[in-house]
Amino acid sequence: MVSKALVRLVSAVHRRRMKLLLGIALLAYAASVWGNFVNMRSIQENGELKIESKIEEIVEPLREKIRDLEKSFTQKYPPVKFLSEKDRKRILITGGAGFVGSHLTDKLMMDGHEVTVVDNFFTGRKRNVEHWIGHENFELINHDVVEPLYIEVDQIYHLASPASPPNYMYNPIKTIKTNTIGTLNMLGLAKRVGARLLLASTSEVYGDPEVHPQSEEYWGHVNPIGPRACYDEGKRVAETMCYAYMKQEGVEVRVARIFNTFGPRMHMNDGRVVSNFILQALQGEPLTVYGSGSQTRAFQYVSDLVNGLVALMNSNVSSPVNLGNPEEHTILEFAQFIKNLVGSGSEIQFLSEAQDDPQKRKPDIKKAKLMLGWEPVVPLEEGLNKAIHYFRKELEYQANNQYIPKPKPARIKKGRTRHN
Ligand SMILES: NC(=O)c1ccc[n+]([C@@H]2O[C@H](COP(=O)([O-])OP(=O)(O)OC[C@H]3O[C@@H](n4cnc5c(N)ncnc54)[C@H](O)[C@@H]3O)[C@@H](O)[C@H]2O)c1
Repeated sequence: MVSKALVRLVSAVHRRRMKLLLGIALLAYAASVWGNFVNMRSIQENGELKIESKIEEIVEPLREKIRDLEKSFTQKYPPVKFLSEKDRKRILITGGAGFVGSHLTDKLMMDGHEVTVVDNFFTGRKRNVEHWIGHENFELINHDVVEPLYIEVDQIYHLASPASPPNYMYNPIKTIKTNTIGTLNMLGLAKRVGARLLLASTSEVYGDPEVHPQSEEYWGHVNPIGPRACYDEGKRVAETMCYAYMKQEGVEVRVARIFNTFGPRMHMNDGRVVSNFILQALQGEPLTVYGSGSQTRAFQYVSDLVNGLVALMNSNVSSPVNLGNPEEHTILEFAQFIKNLVGSGSEIQFLSEAQDDPQKRKPDIKKAKLMLGWEPVVPLEEGLNKAIHYFRKELEYQANNQYIPKPKPARIKKGRTRHN
């Protein structure tokens, strides 16, 4: 796979170089023909100096064009650091074309590592990583983690899994397969090549928690047959698999229990509360609140999460670590806040409560602070403004976009729409 990519890269570079060389050769030829032609006539008329300056007049703009072309080849990518062979890692990110995965890709690429993104594009998009396509340190593989993968890497960030309720409930069996068979495949790969694996687990392993805030010691309160079980239990067993591989096979594992995260590149239609409220406010639609709106959530900005994931991966902490922002707000407060930031005249509309919707969610991040020296630093307002800017642009790009995250009351009873 790597050698194929190399061949592709080399041939792409060759093709570009060939085009450039051909352009230069044609130029030189045209210049010499022109030169000869003019030479013969003008030598007698105006003298050699005049001819040369005429040629120069024609050739200079063409040289300029070649310089621009060369610049466009070299300035195409965001700047990346140079890392020596010793420090540069080969890193696999499963689910790397998704929301979190693409931001993690950006960070690791800019830090100078070699990044391979594996994604089946169920909820991810090529657009999220398109700015790296063709870069010599980057590779994008269309692959489903439910199938085995053979690749040489040093670290694996295993993020592949649908993450929002409408997405993971769309095909619960596939969600279970991705989190179980997919995780087994990645752990098998980690074992074979001696790589360290970080699992993107979730605060959903705590279910509808009876303790508040939730620390890593809490075992959770999950309904094993509820509408969310495919995801919650899928992630719980994925954690179990990590520790079985660690104990039995000596695989180095890291487990991040990620709490609600938001930012640019979230899906427009994934039903998560931040994207719903922003889109509704931007489009002048009512902001839909399920239940009384007194249920609480705590949201972290995506760059904080990415820094936490990298810190955890490179730490010695093999037990689970919560990564989230402990600043807690009610859903109603979020609705008001977003409405004000957007400057929208939208109303707030109350709908019936969603099934198994956790009433409280707030991470205890003492462990991350103590053992990773990590804590969120992006203020809520700053993060929300970035997300609002992103969604505003998305709506602008889609000139005919009429998408409004409509509440579907008929499905609420079956637990298919809820706050996450
Ligand atoms: N965003 C959050 O608030 C949050 C919270 C807790 C946990 N997480 C976890 O973080 C990870 C990333 O979440 P996200 O918000 O970026 O979601 P996302 O849906 O944007 O990204 C998930 C990615 O995984 C890919 N994927 C899904 N199934 C796959 C399969 N079988 N094979 C290969 N690729 C597959 C999707 O196409 C997508 O690109 C997930 O594992 C999720 O459970 C996210």
